[in-house]
Amino acid sequence: MSRRTAGHLGSAVAGVEWVAADLATGAGLAAAVDGMEAMLHLASSPTRRTHEIDVLGTRRLALAAGHAGVDHLVYISIVGVDRVPFGYYRHKLAAEQVVAAGPVPWSVLRATQFPEFLEELLRGASRLGPVLGDPRVLAQPVDPGEVAGRLAAMLAAGPSGRIEEFGGPEVLRYDEAARAWRKARRSHRPLLPVRIPGRLGRELRAGGLTTAATPTGTRTWADHLADTYGGTGGR
Ligand SMILES: NC(=O)c1ccc[n+]([C@@H]2O[C@H](COP(=O)([O-])OP(=O)(O)OC[C@H]3O[C@@H](n4cnc5c(N)ncnc54)[C@H](OP(=O)(O)O)[C@@H]3O)[C@@H](O)[C@H]2O)c1
Repeated sequence: MSRRTAGHLGSAVAGVEWVAADLATGAGLAAAVDGMEAMLHLASSPTRRTHEIDVLGTRRLALAAGHAGVDHLVYISIVGVDRVPFGYYRHKLAAEQVVAAGPVPWSVLRATQFPEFLEELLRGASRLGPVLGDPRVLAQPVDPGEVAGRLAAMLAAGPSGRIEEFGGPEVLRYDEAARAWRKARRSHRPLLPVRIPGRLGRELRAGGLTTAATPTGTRTWADHLADTYGGTGGR
């Protein structure tokens, strides 16, 4: 389910029934949940109308699922939503609470950052030339395929009524991650340290985006870089 129709994939994927629905309005949700035993809720809008889509939209979805008699709702959230003061995280935390208070038995998986997202941040931080960033911020990139595997296992296990966490195999400092990224891209941009002030900086440096939960994923940042750019990805 997404707002788009299957057409944007070129042709229909075998064995997949695509439903267009919009969490912001509720249009199509009843059809999307009709006949479902279990569902993964992955949709999110981090930068636009986040409260309306992530919080109120999750409520619309949970109510529609309850009405349709769905047995299990698995929601993906983010490690650190309860600690790190980002506006987006406040909405993800509120959405977790909507799921937990809703009519459908549930499970929540908080994952750490996907490598693609870390790369997006690094590209944004390099717009002015050097790679800007707080060298001591800690990250724990996790492969989205491994997150998908974990979600599928949770779906099969049935509702736990618990929040689980899942992170990548290693905790990296921002400067280590940035150096490996730069090397994989054969770039010579300098790293320019910029300390993030206040509580946000303290939480990020203290590992607010990381988790000690086990098991972890196995694919490393270096694996991602090697797959994306060739070579050893800084290993
Ligand atoms: N990226 C990360 O590092 C990371 C880490 C941990 C957890 N997560 C969580 O994992 C999930 C997926 O992340 P992602 O980075 O893959 O996100 P993404 O690429 O932005 O995908 C979000 C999806 O939400 C759908 N969507 C947005 N607004 C919608 C609406 N009003 N109604 C229905 N569907 C809507 C979009 O589909 P259409 O545009 O086709 O509607 C899109 O497929 C999110 O819940 C995110 O919080 C992400």
